[in-house]
Amino acid sequence: MKIETRLTRLLGIDLPICQAGMSWASSNSALPLAVARAGGLGVLAAGPMYLDALEQAIDEIRAGTDRPFAVNLPLYNKRAEEMMDLLEMKRVPILVCSQGGPKKYIDRFKAIGTRCLHVVAGETHAVKAMEAGVDGLVVVGGEAGGHPPPTQVSTLVLVRAVSHATEGRIPLIASGGFADGRGLLAALSLGADGANFGTRFIATPEAGVSVGYKEAVLGARVADTVCVGQGLGMIRAIRNPFTDRMVDLENSGASLDDRRDVFAGATLKMAALDGDVEGGKLEAGQSTGLVGAIKPAHLVVEEIAEDYLRALAALPGRTFLNGRYSYDEGEKVNG
Ligand SMILES: Cc1cc2nc3c(=O)[nH]c(=O)nc-3n(C[C@H](O)[C@H](O)[C@H](O)COP(=O)(O)O)c2cc1C
Repeated sequence: MKIETRLTRLLGIDLPICQAGMSWASSNSALPLAVARAGGLGVLAAGPMYLDALEQAIDEIRAGTDRPFAVNLPLYNKRAEEMMDLLEMKRVPILVCSQGGPKKYIDRFKAIGTRCLHVVAGETHAVKAMEAGVDGLVVVGGEAGGHPPPTQVSTLVLVRAVSHATEGRIPLIASGGFADGRGLLAALSLGADGANFGTRFIATPEAGVSVGYKEAVLGARVADTVCVGQGLGMIRAIRNPFTDRMVDLENSGASLDDRRDVFAGATLKMAALDGDVEGGKLEAGQSTGLVGAIKPAHLVVEEIAEDYLRALAALPGRTFLNGRYSYDEGEKVNG
């Protein structure tokens, strides 16, 4: 199946369905490989990986498919420079950089033909990245798991604002709150050329997180996530004793240092690898409430594509008559 957009043409993929880079969940070859094989964009999250593991995962993906894939690199990472050297040496097809400006990498990667996507969370940053020469933008809104924008402006509003600000000049991937085909359709109608799916792909056998984490994603409803850690690298996570403690501190006006101690004392790794679903950071988006089952990643991709086509077909037909839209075929509009 193919659903063609500017993004699929830019990246050489069949479907505008992107598996969001997620530390631990996609820090191994299995998830990005399965998504790439299914025709979507698989993204290896380099953030928590050591160099040798990153190199091995890239080799495994290449051994499993000749389709394009991406590597996500948070630029604040203390190993970012070495990782960039490795990614250049491996000539990765697509780079998705977050948390920093594109000037550090753009020339060297464009020179070797790598498609450079940059993660942004506001219009100003988006225009700057576009002017620096990136090929496309990932626009992350407030619903997103992981690090939503500190402003928490919703994806619904932010994607349109970025689309206006960039005047449609480069492809956008909308990120935060999608999870199904109706989400993909919504993303395309907001002015994006593809959608990122993060939380939806945590509930796959391929995601590199604990069973307890996956069960928490299945069990949570749309209102069961909360943003904590404002000013400390805020995250959106499923409510648990750790987030309750943070919320108590925030509501009682605790000092930044006190909040930092608790915030830094819990990690994503604790939840993802050790299965500590009470004390760790269960990072997930509001779309966790739309995720109902653990399914192989290739089936998730197929279902999103099929659901998208059904949702598209179910849209009301529109005829423009006498200055007004008619929503039902044949409906007469007075005017
Ligand atoms: C567990 C988890 C880990 C994440 N890690 C990263 C990361 O390493 N780099 C990054 O750019 N974004 C990261 N994100 C954000 C995602 O790339 C994406 O923006 C988000 O998941 C989209 O929202 P959704 O979960 O509602 O689909 C992470 C998100 C989650 C849920």
